[in-house]
Amino acid sequence: SGLPLVDGFGRVATDLRVSLTDRCNLRCTYCMPAEGLPWLDREELLTNAELTRLIRVGVERLGITSVRLTGGEPLLRSDLIEIVAGIDALRPRPRIALTTNGIGLAKRAEELARAGLDRLNISLDTLDPQTFAALTRRRRLPDVLAGIRAAVAAGLHPVKINSVLMRGVNDHEAAHLVEWAIGEGVQLRFIEQMPLDAQHGWRRTEMITADEIHARIATRFRLVEDPADRLARGSAPAELFRVEGTDARVGVIASVSRPFCGNCDRVRLTADGQIRNCLFAREESDLRSALRGGADDEELARRWLSAVAGKRAGHGIDDPGFLQPERPMSAIGG
Ligand code: GTP
Ligand code: 5AD
Ligand code: SF4
Repeated sequence: SGLPLVDGFGRVATDLRVSLTDRCNLRCTYCMPAEGLPWLDREELLTNAELTRLIRVGVERLGITSVRLTGGEPLLRSDLIEIVAGIDALRPRPRIALTTNGIGLAKRAEELARAGLDRLNISLDTLDPQTFAALTRRRRLPDVLAGIRAAVAAGLHPVKINSVLMRGVNDHEAAHLVEWAIGEGVQLRFIEQMPLDAQHGWRRTEMITADEIHARIATRFRLVEDPADRLARGSAPAELFRVEGTDARVGVIASVSRPFCGNCDRVRLTADGQIRNCLFAREESDLRSALRGGADDEELARRWLSAVAGKRAGHGIDDPGFLQPERPMSAIGG
């Protein structure tokens, strides 16, 4: 019921990505500085009740069919289980997914599945404890690996692993990560790094491209395209490949060299209640002020519709005048 979230190019947003906090317990060098960032104040964050209200408006009036909880690190929200349960109670019931770094997941995976979580994606860029410590500035590799096993054990299939490859840091590990993923029964996806770091240090020439990702994997594995995967892709960011000789799939998310903006079905809600129509949006629409100012559901839906209507064609990373967004990925939601 209600109106779909259509933009000026005819794309329809049905996938809502909600950042639950801008904080994180890792300090990945490609994401934020060692000292962290100026975090949002507690009062700036949407409460569980406010989140559930906005998600309900999206589901009941605007055609949202899928909700992904992100951060920062969403497991840092002490009310995460209640948030998931609140979304689970909505009708029509959206699919519920989580993107996490996996720390603390080992003790919560089961509970999250019981609360209604359908799927989850976990970030892991390296299997080497030293590289992990250098890259994330924390010695937490065992916690992440335990979290991944707990997610598989809790039946949250398919568990997807996100890996960002960086030149001279972990790019030599691509084939090893594939071997590991086959053994663990998880779907590994390699991601091209985008200009979304807090330090604004991204360089196009430094980025490991999808072609380079393929070359590194090819040293040990042959990837084959399955027509069924291609047909099923829809608006998913990952191109999937089958690892020859196995049933395992490996994904490549080529956001920069092969953008998928033309099929985008996403809209974002930041932890402080702003609607962003794109990761790279230049403007946000302040639903939190509207909500706290007493707006009714209809008014919230109206603002949300007009925020999506203004969505641009694509991220424009390769355009001459490209400007990186003011807020980093950790604040916008991954
Ligand atoms: P599923 O495929 O549905 O499991 O989710 P997902 O891949 O969208 O979710 P995830 O949060 O795991 O994101 C994986 C990566 O996709 C991110 O690290 C980004 O690099 C990329 N990505 C996610 N959303 C967007 C987006 O809106 N635009 C672009 N260009 N890239 C995105
Ligand atoms: N470009 C692409 N992916 C990124 N991530 C974090 N920063 C970037 C970036 N600049 C990834 C994380 C995580 C996912 C949510 O986003 O590694 O897997
Ligand atoms: Fe945290 Fe994710 Fe940023 Fe790493 S990439 S510091 S896990 S928010």
